[in-house]
Amino acid sequence: MNTTDDDALDLAALAAPNMSPVLGRYMDRSWSHGVGHRLYDTAGNGYLDFANGIAVTSLGHTHPRVTAAIHAQVDKLIGPVHAIGFAESTVTLANMLAASVPDPLDAVLFLNSGSETIDGAIKLARRVTGRPGIIAFRGAFHGRTIGATSVTTSSINYRTGYEPLLPSVYFAPYPAAFEHGGDEEAATRSSMASLRSLLASIIAPSQVAAILIEPVQGEGGYYPAPVEFMRELRALCDEHGMLLIADEVQSGFGRTGEMWAFEHAGIVPDVVVTAKAIANGLPLSAIITSHELQERWGRGAHGTTYGGNPVACAAGVAVLQTIADEDLVANARLRGAELSGGLRELMADHPGIGDVRGPGLMIGVEFVSDRSTRQPDGALAEAVAARASEAGLLLLTCGVHHQVIRWIPPLDVTVPEIEEALSIFERALKG
Ligand SMILES: Cc1ncc(COP(=O)(O)O)c(C=O)c1O
Repeated sequence: MNTTDDDALDLAALAAPNMSPVLGRYMDRSWSHGVGHRLYDTAGNGYLDFANGIAVTSLGHTHPRVTAAIHAQVDKLIGPVHAIGFAESTVTLANMLAASVPDPLDAVLFLNSGSETIDGAIKLARRVTGRPGIIAFRGAFHGRTIGATSVTTSSINYRTGYEPLLPSVYFAPYPAAFEHGGDEEAATRSSMASLRSLLASIIAPSQVAAILIEPVQGEGGYYPAPVEFMRELRALCDEHGMLLIADEVQSGFGRTGEMWAFEHAGIVPDVVVTAKAIANGLPLSAIITSHELQERWGRGAHGTTYGGNPVACAAGVAVLQTIADEDLVANARLRGAELSGGLRELMADHPGIGDVRGPGLMIGVEFVSDRSTRQPDGALAEAVAARASEAGLLLLTCGVHHQVIRWIPPLDVTVPEIEEALSIFERALKG
């Protein structure tokens, strides 16, 4: 401790007069700095950060390689130079990102945020196919711009007052196995049946430009789509000339124990959108498709002022190099299995936990008031998350009823840190 809590700078109080009240916050603590996997408040208390700005600082705070890359780039070239040419870090990152996705994906369009990639992907799909329809999934969160809001249903507050949203957007149920007692086959069958019924009676496949899916649903509750569902979705899109858009904004960059979550199903989407962890905290995002698709989209069909900023891209290059050099995708797989195992052990003693699920380090712990009815218990999840934070472990909730605690540790999390987190969580569960 550097100061007492009473002397510490109270940023919430300083923010109150002039900072917008619009942004929702899980907590209103005052943060001083971050080092590695810990955040420090203005009173000097350290917290193990398993929230990471919602899957953004996947290499932890002030990672030495990322920080060094940013420093070096700041001294060379800060501003974007799109209109007049190319910057080296931007080109390097595009080449590295293209190498991280399967063929035929090889063309990268940089933007600034996840929401922008969703708007861009919708525009691409409509222009290239000449069709209006977009199918998204219930419970999805794709962002806050008007296009992204139109395909988002994870909270009614995100849509209220904004109608009319984009026309020709339709929703199918997400294949959440939990809602089918953990039966992935039943979830796949049920969601595919709803999708086919939608295409038979509401919008013809010939009118659908794209199906948009999070391979692991994020804000909606950390539900992984069954592998078989992703395969059937790919086949359905192929059958009808619809584009398959994978929103990997939260699930990408090694988070699930594969570089991209769609890889678990062995399929290749037509469009992949990514953001969050791409530059470990600097604003950057990307739409990745085949060159052929972006050629068809057309020169000048979309654009950006800041997207592909050289400093953000230099950070992005350091992120991808670190993930490769330290084998962090494998670490996400191994540490994820340990963390899931520990959480399942806790589930055995705590009837309030209805499910522990998710690949790699994208793990959802669902709280229920009754395991047999799977009735969501958001109040319990929020109370446990709050107690964990008080005890020094930052965890966030998600889910339509805030009933899921999501575990998003850094990709380079260690065994002792997982043990520490599980021990704090166990105490938080007891109340
Ligand atoms: C899956 C997914 N898509 C899109 C977005 C929107 O990204 P941004 O907040 O950068 O606009 C988010 C943000 O949480 C997300 O989780």
